[in-house]
Amino acid sequence: MRLTVLKERRAGETRVAATPETVKKIMALGITVAIETGAGLASGFPDAAYADAGAEIAANAAVALAGAQIILKVRAPLPAGEGDVDELALIPRGALLIGTLGVDAAAAAAYAKQGIEAVAMELAPRITRAQSMDVLSSQANLAGYRAVIEAAVAFDKGFPMLMTAAGTIPAANVFVMGAGVAGLQAIATARRLGGRVSATDVRPAAKEEIKSLGAAFVGYEDEESRAAQTAGGYAKAMSAEFLKKQGEVVAAAIGKMDIVICTALVQGRKAPILVTAEMVASMKPGSVIVDIASDAGGNCALTVPGEVTTTDNGVIILGHRNWPARIPGAASALYARNLLTFLSTFWDKEAKAPKLDAADDIIKGVTLTRGGAVVHPLLAGAA
Ligand code: NAI
Repeated sequence: MRLTVLKERRAGETRVAATPETVKKIMALGITVAIETGAGLASGFPDAAYADAGAEIAANAAVALAGAQIILKVRAPLPAGEGDVDELALIPRGALLIGTLGVDAAAAAAYAKQGIEAVAMELAPRITRAQSMDVLSSQANLAGYRAVIEAAVAFDKGFPMLMTAAGTIPAANVFVMGAGVAGLQAIATARRLGGRVSATDVRPAAKEEIKSLGAAFVGYEDEESRAAQTAGGYAKAMSAEFLKKQGEVVAAAIGKMDIVICTALVQGRKAPILVTAEMVASMKPGSVIVDIASDAGGNCALTVPGEVTTTDNGVIILGHRNWPARIPGAASALYARNLLTFLSTFWDKEAKAPKLDAADDIIKGVTLTRGGAVVHPLLAGAA
């Protein structure tokens, strides 16, 4: 069984789907591993480290993919015309492709046509058994951490209260919007740096979690928010009336904030707008908004996804996309372990091959295509 790890070619993607540590463990399953040259460079893993772990270093994608039966990726393979290499065309028929592939009907139809068994790891159910394979959690955690670190750099004052002989600098007021995995890590990180932290969310469980991290809860609660959590653990899309009431509470607080960290997402939808242009206008010059919901459009109405902008009143908005890729060493290490856990959980030791039982809840959740057909319910009718 040959497993290939490709170099990520999408713009701004610095992560890699396997590390020398996971390569060793993959090889212990009896798998031969090929790494495309340079695949780990941007995350701090040179070819030599993979070679030391026992991997073959392939000179290019075509060599790496020749005879591959399992392919590990961070992002979906590039199709023809989207980059210097048509990665998709090079993937052998029948191969198992594992990555954060997205819910993309055209791509799924192409995988099915090519007989690729495609697994989208970000669709794994939020159940205890899947926790160690949960790529959304591992990556969001680091994004939340990184957001606070970058906010601290962009902010022209300090996070902690600084009492000096020359006078006192007050602690930064930090507001975290959305207290899921990324938001909770942002709260913890901002507290460690000495900020005065408050946070908002709509799910009832989040309020307790915010408080347990020592932050203040700022938010609006009603019957709708008491039922705001789906069975899968995600937030529901809130009504316009709720968002208006929530906006009034936020508007009253946001003018005092130095740092706003936006992390609110609603699965499968555009991110909710929680910070309006008027709210930004009420903020002080030098304040920083970090919008890690940027890939889904952003939580701030003025976020330009992919860019850093400064508003007329001097508020800095960090709208970078792909926050996990801004901390690639750690993000790759955790992502690679998520994939290793998936592979070893669904590994048939006797057959020395993956065994993806279609009746298993995790497999049901992540499988996009099987046996030449698009099978995922979110993509019904795509092929
Ligand atoms: P997410 O990335 O989809 O959303 C981030 C946060 O934004 C969520 O807390 C959500 O409630 C919040 N949000 C959505 N709309 C909002 C609005 N209008 N205003 C304010 N906040 C809003 O969520 P994430 O971080 O992926 O996970 C959410 C929850 O799922 C976790 O807190 C946890 O309870 C659960 N979870 C369970 C896991 C497991 O059991 N294996 C693993 C990971 C998460």
